[in-house]
Amino acid sequence: MKEYADNPRIHLARGEGCWLIDTSGRRYLDGNASVWTNVHGHNDSDLNAALKSQLDQVAHVTLLGMNHVVATELAEDLSTLTGGKLARCFYTDNGSNAVEVALKLSFQYWQLVGRPAKRGVIAMSGAYHGDTFGTMSAGDHRGFHQRFEPWLFSSHKFSAPTHSECAGRIQQSDAKVSLRELETLLKAQASETACLIIEPRVQGAAGMMQQPKGFINAVEKLCRQYDVHLILDEVFTAFGRLGALTVAEQEGVTPDFLCLAKGLTAGYLPMGATLTSEKIYQAFEGDFSEGRTFFHGHTFSGNPLGCAVARASLKKLRPMISSGQLTESAALLGKEIESTFSTHTHVARYRQVGLTGAIDFCPANRERRWTASLRAGYKVSLAARRHGLIIRPLGDSILFVPPIAIKPDEIRHLIKAVRLAADEVLPTLQTDTLS
Ligand SMILES: Cc1ncc(COP(=O)(O)O)c(C=O)c1O
Repeated sequence: MKEYADNPRIHLARGEGCWLIDTSGRRYLDGNASVWTNVHGHNDSDLNAALKSQLDQVAHVTLLGMNHVVATELAEDLSTLTGGKLARCFYTDNGSNAVEVALKLSFQYWQLVGRPAKRGVIAMSGAYHGDTFGTMSAGDHRGFHQRFEPWLFSSHKFSAPTHSECAGRIQQSDAKVSLRELETLLKAQASETACLIIEPRVQGAAGMMQQPKGFINAVEKLCRQYDVHLILDEVFTAFGRLGALTVAEQEGVTPDFLCLAKGLTAGYLPMGATLTSEKIYQAFEGDFSEGRTFFHGHTFSGNPLGCAVARASLKKLRPMISSGQLTESAALLGKEIESTFSTHTHVARYRQVGLTGAIDFCPANRERRWTASLRAGYKVSLAARRHGLIIRPLGDSILFVPPIAIKPDEIRHLIKAVRLAADEVLPTLQTDTLS
């Protein structure tokens, strides 16, 4: 907070397409899609109209013990994401809760079908599933969650694959080691494991770390073979981020639980949804006295305004995907990253898939290093503001997550502003010898 208070503040007042405008009228491209949520840009007239129209009906009613029209309609829309295979929808109000619900449903399911020993969770190294205790426990305990370690339940981890591609070109890849580790874990633990949770194709908060195409397919097969639920956390990857509505659809995978949030409402309102199958749903049916109730309810779960915007967003997004616009934007993003950074003296690695990307910076002299307290990525992100860009760092890296509707000129602006900022900041940083 001291650092935040000491640095120039930014007070945003308005949004216009992919741009944010501060109180003094300065314009910034939203290179972070307002924490990975924005789909059609800010202040979109169609989404605004859907929101206003719902506002004239009702702003909020609870889903506890009743239902409302637009929640039902959206649940029907969402069931089409899996061709009706996951036709049951549980609403919440953010991504962490969408995951929390999937975990709890899985745990309770195994109790309800008489296999209470199946309680464990398997996840991948580097995983980030949210900031509640359940999701922190399923996530990688290092980094963001380390301080809370004493309060977390344990989960088994297998190593993420080493895979990196940009503009469709694979720079390195080895998924076999990772899958072998997973199989060993399943062989030993399946009878005590409820579920495996994974961010498919790209682990965002780990630094846009990638898995090769087909990896999630292989994970699904192992889950089926060892009778362990598969939870796909698509809070980050769904709604166009990787070029399709979901990675599940793109890769032909049907999980037991599909977690959605962020882009679900195109970045307008907080909302989460956990989709699941009829088979799981059926296990929760019974007389009250049987005690099958799923006790999980949030005050604003399935808020009608969020549902209305989510429906309007999906309606706009489908034609965008089928027009090929997202494929072209992703290709341009990859091409621009590669041509700008592949031979840059301060770039150790770079990667991109869909509308996600990252550059890992390093000292020009590879025999030396920067200390973490130098905050290289953070300094680049602050300098980028002077070049009309809001962007998020992660350690010595910069993460590219633009709004899905970003236009070609805006992609060029995004990459150019990072390049200008990096060239300004990185050569001035003190280096240490490698210890
Ligand atoms: C993959 C993934 N899962 C879950 C979450 C948590 O979502 P929320 O911040 O809405 O709770 C995030 C947030 O970044 C995420 O990237």
